[in-house]
Amino acid sequence: MSARNFRAFWSDSPLVTCKSRTTRLVEAIVCSKPHKYKDLCYDLTPLSYNELAAGPQFASRNRVGGLANVGLFANSGATCRRLSRSRTPRMSNIYSRIVGTGSYLPSRIVTNDELASTLDTSDAWIRTMTGIVQRRIAGDGESTAEMAAIASARALGNAGVNARDIDLIIVATITPDLVFPSTAALLQARLGARNVGAFDLSAACSGFMYGLALADGMIASGRLKTALVVGAETMSRLLDWKDRSTCVLFGDGAAAVVLVSAKNPGVRSVRMHADGSDPNVLCTPSQRSRYLHMDGGAVFRFAVRGLVEAGGEMLEANNITAASVDWLIPHQANLRIIESCARKLSIAKEKVVVTVDRHANTSAASIPLALDAAVTDGRVRTGDSVLLLSVGGGFTWAGGLITWA
Ligand code: UT7
Repeated sequence: MSARNFRAFWSDSPLVTCKSRTTRLVEAIVCSKPHKYKDLCYDLTPLSYNELAAGPQFASRNRVGGLANVGLFANSGATCRRLSRSRTPRMSNIYSRIVGTGSYLPSRIVTNDELASTLDTSDAWIRTMTGIVQRRIAGDGESTAEMAAIASARALGNAGVNARDIDLIIVATITPDLVFPSTAALLQARLGARNVGAFDLSAACSGFMYGLALADGMIASGRLKTALVVGAETMSRLLDWKDRSTCVLFGDGAAAVVLVSAKNPGVRSVRMHADGSDPNVLCTPSQRSRYLHMDGGAVFRFAVRGLVEAGGEMLEANNITAASVDWLIPHQANLRIIESCARKLSIAKEKVVVTVDRHANTSAASIPLALDAAVTDGRVRTGDSVLLLSVGGGFTWAGGLITWA
């Protein structure tokens, strides 16, 4: 196959005009199977077959600076990432779709007034500074795995999917019950799922979004058909209940989504980010202390920046405007962070799903809990564009855009 008369061999992708360093114009470089198109890849661009097979990151870092107008698709497997910053087509016409959500909140409600009875704080301070009115706190029998199991069973029920049909289980958590086995392995047994892959994922408050990205990629690659992604946290066990600057902010809970393979989106794109250059700003340094530590002001500033950046990236990647977003579901840490993020993204506050008032910050569970609430009360409907944005310790941050199906 000659490079010069090459056209996209994957018909589902939009054609992109690309220019190689050797100024040869081509219609598209879409490389789902670089081994098959080895000669072509080499011929088309100065990128070698190995560079293409290594994936877009390599090319992005090392080559794109010198290549104007390059819309290059390079991937050896699961998903496709275009290196330019506009649309994000996939390598296949397989998508993932959320077909069921479910959640679990501990029965014990702890109000601000209850906290103020033992701490030097007040309902007024907590409401004004965070928007939090109450939180749920797990009792003795309510472990992370137990909450995950109930939320998952509800999601499976709502999806009409049998636990035996799950091909992959991901539990996003920073509060596993055990160091190992993973919460996901415990969940597999509790659900009676087959002996499929099951693992925990640690990305703090972005954990659910990371799990969504992984499950979506696996489904889009055709490797599996049904995935369970759970966010589950017992944050109460990480808190120093004498530290008013942290303990008033968090709560416990779990929520799950069932993803299946579909011909149409579904999940349109998910992107993950991390910057671990300043880990002490928000951490639990288990060597010295088992308690969560936070520089509130620094986290606040980064949270707004991370959410806005992730949101802007999603709008740009999917070539949509803020006006066409039907629902914004950001990480629920602080109402002031949420409002600032929505304002900066020009998304009307009526379109923002808020649960931080009732749940407080449930880390990886916060986004799926809010999604489940908005689906259950009928706000999110078929065809709606839902923008999911997370930020958390690491720092980690992520954005996802889904069409509710
Ligand atoms: O998932 C991500 C995790 N975390 C977050 O997203 C949290 C991000 N940060 C925040 O939400 C805010 O930083 C807080 C709500 C935690 C604090 O707001 P702030 O505007 O950064 O206040 P501050 O930490 O500067 O504290 C202001 C005052 C201080 O008193 P002084 O030094 O001015 O006398 C604090 O000691 O408020 C005091 N304070 C409290 N007062 C009553 C701190 N916590 C409390 C409290 N009740 N619970």
